[in-house]
Amino acid sequence: MPTGATIGPPHVPEVGRGCQYPTPSILAPVAALRPIVEIEDVTRIYRKGGAEIRPLDHVTLHIEAGEFVALMGPSGSGKTTLLNLLAGLDRPSSGTVRVCGLDLAKLSARELARWRADHVGFVFQSFNLLPVLTARQNVELPLTLQPLSRAARRAHAEAALRCVGLGDRMDHRPAELSGGQEQRVAIARALACDPQLLVADEPTGDLDAAAAHDVLLLMKRLNEEFGKTIIIVTHDPHVAEFARRELHLEKGVLQMERRR
Ligand SMILES: Nc1ncnc2c1ncn2[C@@H]1O[C@H](COP(=O)(O)OP(=O)(O)OP(=O)(O)O)[C@@H](O)[C@H]1O
Ligand SMILES: [Mg+2]
Repeated sequence: MPTGATIGPPHVPEVGRGCQYPTPSILAPVAALRPIVEIEDVTRIYRKGGAEIRPLDHVTLHIEAGEFVALMGPSGSGKTTLLNLLAGLDRPSSGTVRVCGLDLAKLSARELARWRADHVGFVFQSFNLLPVLTARQNVELPLTLQPLSRAARRAHAEAALRCVGLGDRMDHRPAELSGGQEQRVAIARALACDPQLLVADEPTGDLDAAAAHDVLLLMKRLNEEFGKTIIIVTHDPHVAEFARRELHLEKGVLQMERRR
């Protein structure tokens, strides 16, 4: 997010460098077409007591910058595994994962952690807010990894909270918020470092229909107004209606996709 008190478009981040490609004017149309996520022939294998589990099996997938993608499929089909790989939380057993043109396998664990902090915002089903911290403090937490003054951290956190419609709840702790508000704090936290990529694993799974709808509208706005690339894992076909592309996984294989 830019240093000012509002969330700005992602091409002018001051803190985070974001995940922008250099786009000199003559190259801009080419750069705009370049995928932000390039998954090439990726397989993930777990071995447990002699048995082999293969949650992803030779998956190839490209996602363009600025897309809003819903990743669907039955329980155990590999959705979270795929999300974790493209967000740099896990590494493939074989194949390549490139994000923003960078082959994540080339990064050490420490570099990968740093890269994640700068480039990916995470939203989880269970919000994962720290109960003893206020909304503002929860959002400020990832900003402590950035070279920012305390005042700048506060300004960023407040801007992110205003962006998700919680300007009047900044001093509330999670227990003093509704589920929908908690998830919006979590989204503000994910946005705080102005990542280009926002990944969400069943973000509406614990919400009632109205709160889920608000969270999805917010994600749609982040995609359309701020150009965030959003990848959302869901079981809910209604959730997928907000996305412009639906991907379906079955037993670790991409089976089908639909574009709107
Ligand atoms: N760390 C692990 N060790 C062993 N097996 C694992 C591990 N993580 C996931 N699996 C297995 O990989 C498969 C895919 O898991 P994954 O969590 O990606 O499914 P999912 O599509 O997200 O399911 P859900 O909709 O229930 O969240 C499952 O069979 C799971 O048991
Ligand atoms: Mg899952």
